[in-house]
Amino acid sequence: METRSVRVRAFAKVNLGLRVLHKRADGYHELRTVFQSISLADRLSIEFRPARNTRLEMDCAAPIADNLVLRAAKALMEAARIHGVVRFRLEKRIPMGGGLGGGSSDAAAALLVLPVLAGKEVSFATLHRIAASVGSDVPFFLIGGTVLGLGRGEEMYPLPAPVARNVLLVAPPVHSSTPEAYRALDRGPESALTFTGRLHENIKFQELVRRLAVSEGGEGWKLYCQNDFEDVVLARHPELRALRKRLLHSGAEPALLSGSGSALFGIFHTPNEVQQARERILAGWRAAGEIRAEAVGFVSRERYQAAYWRALAPHMDGRLWPPRSRYDR
Ligand code: C5P
Repeated sequence: METRSVRVRAFAKVNLGLRVLHKRADGYHELRTVFQSISLADRLSIEFRPARNTRLEMDCAAPIADNLVLRAAKALMEAARIHGVVRFRLEKRIPMGGGLGGGSSDAAAALLVLPVLAGKEVSFATLHRIAASVGSDVPFFLIGGTVLGLGRGEEMYPLPAPVARNVLLVAPPVHSSTPEAYRALDRGPESALTFTGRLHENIKFQELVRRLAVSEGGEGWKLYCQNDFEDVVLARHPELRALRKRLLHSGAEPALLSGSGSALFGIFHTPNEVQQARERILAGWRAAGEIRAEAVGFVSRERYQAAYWRALAPHMDGRLWPPRSRYDR
């Protein structure tokens, strides 16, 4: 059989809300978050050829120690009994270590695409189980758009898409470690991260979700965006605090950290405001060319899934989600 290949966009995410509750018995933290897909995307090419001996190859210019794409592909091929030679070519455009979910999105792309190329139907439940084993954020990228995430983030409830076309994403060359950010929260002044300890903050999160859920095209949800990591991460990295201030002074409503950082984003009213904020941020950073500032937009679940359908069209049967292979016997 000939080699089957596709090239997909693996979209990044930001968090519109992120609450970290208590530390659980399994060592993870209980989350309340709203994930949002954005237009910035990695490009992942996947070639598949059936073969008795499975072999996975990764071609990527950026050095990545533990590539989640390979972990996801290996787990999937074992679970679905797919045998073949798979070649990935990964073009990184999403800054790494920014809290933008790039590696998780790449891994989910492999999970969505490989069954289609291999002609195997894999249930959403199986994809979800494998995704969650690869990383807490990976399941979100099996759905995309706007999603309420509970548990480690893997228990998901799709929400209607809020409109935000004028978003400035800022990725400074600052490393913010996720496990360290969680540890800092555990040690913080309110070390018992519980519902009762921060009831007011929970009400704010509930209001964010409620406003997104009723949507009606309103913008009231913007007042209720929040990220629990900001206190500890901005305290540790004053340059991030300065960037957030600059976003706010440029008219962002709101300006937030994404995940545990170090990327930030600001939502503006006009493209002009975005460009002005971008120029101010680039001009104000200590070394030119070190920081990235890009205009992006929110991506709805409809657009997210349509992008996969478009890329997979030659290999697909109908417009189902997850995408369904036409080679499936
Ligand atoms: O699941 P993932 O491998 O992406 O998580 C990375 C680290 O972040 C975990 O090892 C853990 O320290 C922390 N984490 C957490 N609670 C979560 C998600 C991640 O404590 N819900």
